[in-house]
Parts: sequence; C-alpha cells; structure tokens
Amino acid sequence: MKKTIISPSVLAADFADFGGAIAQIDASGAEWVHLDVMDGRFVPNITFGPKLVGDIRKRTAAFLDVHLMITEPGNFVEAFAKAGADGITFHLEAEVHSQRLLAAIRGMGKKAGISIVPSTPAFMLEELLPYTDLVLVMTVNPGFGGQTLIPECLAKVQKLVEMREKRGLDFLISVDGGIHEGTAGAAKAAGTDVLVMGSAFFGHSDQAGLVRELGSTIN
Ligand code: DX5
Ligand code: ZN
Repeated sequence: MKKTIISPSVLAADFADFGGAIAQIDASGAEWVHLDVMDGRFVPNITFGPKLVGDIRKRTAAFLDVHLMITEPGNFVEAFAKAGADGITFHLEAEVHSQRLLAAIRGMGKKAGISIVPSTPAFMLEELLPYTDLVLVMTVNPGFGGQTLIPECLAKVQKLVEMREKRGLDFLISVDGGIHEGTAGAAKAAGTDVLVMGSAFFGHSDQAGLVRELGSTIN
C-alpha cells in the first residue's frame, strides 16, 4: 500500500501565465511540479531554463522536479540547483559520465534522477542505481506533450521494481508521457511511484479530483 505522487508538468500550461499554472497545481493538492527543460538538440523542441525555475521557486513550496532533456546536462545542473530545483533528472543517453553527474547532484544537496527514452533498456541503469534517487521512465519519445503512451515501456517499471527489491535500494520510479485516467492504472500496477502528467492535468475540469483519484493508494 503506498501513495502515488502526482507531478503535473507545466509543459501543457499557458506559457504566458506560469504563475497561474503553479497556483492551479498547488490548489489541486499535487505535491510535485514537473519542469521540462528542452534545448532543441537532445529533443526537437525548446522550452525554458533556470530563470523560470527560480521564479517558480518563489511561488511554491512544492517539490520542483526538473527534467533536463538537454545535451551536456553537466553544464547546467549547478544553475538549476541554485535556482531552487529539488530534484534534477538528466538523460542517460545525453551523458557518458552519468555516475559522476548523479554524485555531483547529490553533492549539491538535491535528489539525483536519471531518465531513459523508450529505446533504452532498463538494464542499462544497473550500475547507476545505488547513486540514484529517482528513475524517470519515459513512456513516450521526449519532446512534446500530448503523445500516446508506448505500453511496452511499462515493463521497464516492473523490471526496475525487481532490481530495486533485489538490491535493497529505495529510489523512486516515475513515468512520463501519455499518462491520464486511462493509463495511470497500468502504470501504478507496474509499480510506479510518481505519475508525471501534462495535458491530462491541465485539460481536466476537476484537477483536485484527478490528483485525489490517481494519487490514491494501490490496493
Ligand atoms: C515530454 C515531457 C513530458 C510531458 C508529458 O517530453 O517530458 O513531461 O510534459 O506530457 P503529457 O502528459 O501530455 O504526455
Ligand atoms: Zn518530463
């Protein structure tokens, strides 16, 4: 029995009104805010940088869950840490020296996260798991909100749960992409701890109800 963390992604919000988006997230009861940073190189889209994270930091006490979809993420983790990120997640595919970067993020007093795209197998993370606080399993190819979840990716969540148990570790497992009321059940059944939700959250007429329903304990 455990509670599922809901992490609404501002990628689906009105970019001309981030303050309003943060107010909506806080009012919904969600405990995390997911911030998708894209550089136009690692993914074919561009969003925002540390300045926005710093400005959002001033408006909420929620856990700021920064997801870096950028090449050479090591050049930017310090800026995001200083801006007030609580967790910083980068992509395995974007960083050769992932162990060093995870340790550096922890050294800054932040939760260290690593993410994999749909084509990367879960076993690629094996050596990194002791250095990781969060594994973010992408359930779509990153770059855009509103895509359809690739069901095969959920098998990776199950594999990570097994790896975690076997090794007595305690990192969280998050899923990101195509999560909504119709797919959240399967993600939770696979063992996910954190549901990232962009379009499903911002397109919902009852955000508090959604957070209550999807964040409820698994029976
Ligand atoms: C996609 C981002 C996601 C995105 C999810 O590259 O990493 O966080 O916001 O959006 P939805 O929930 O609409 O699939
Ligand atoms: Zn994301």
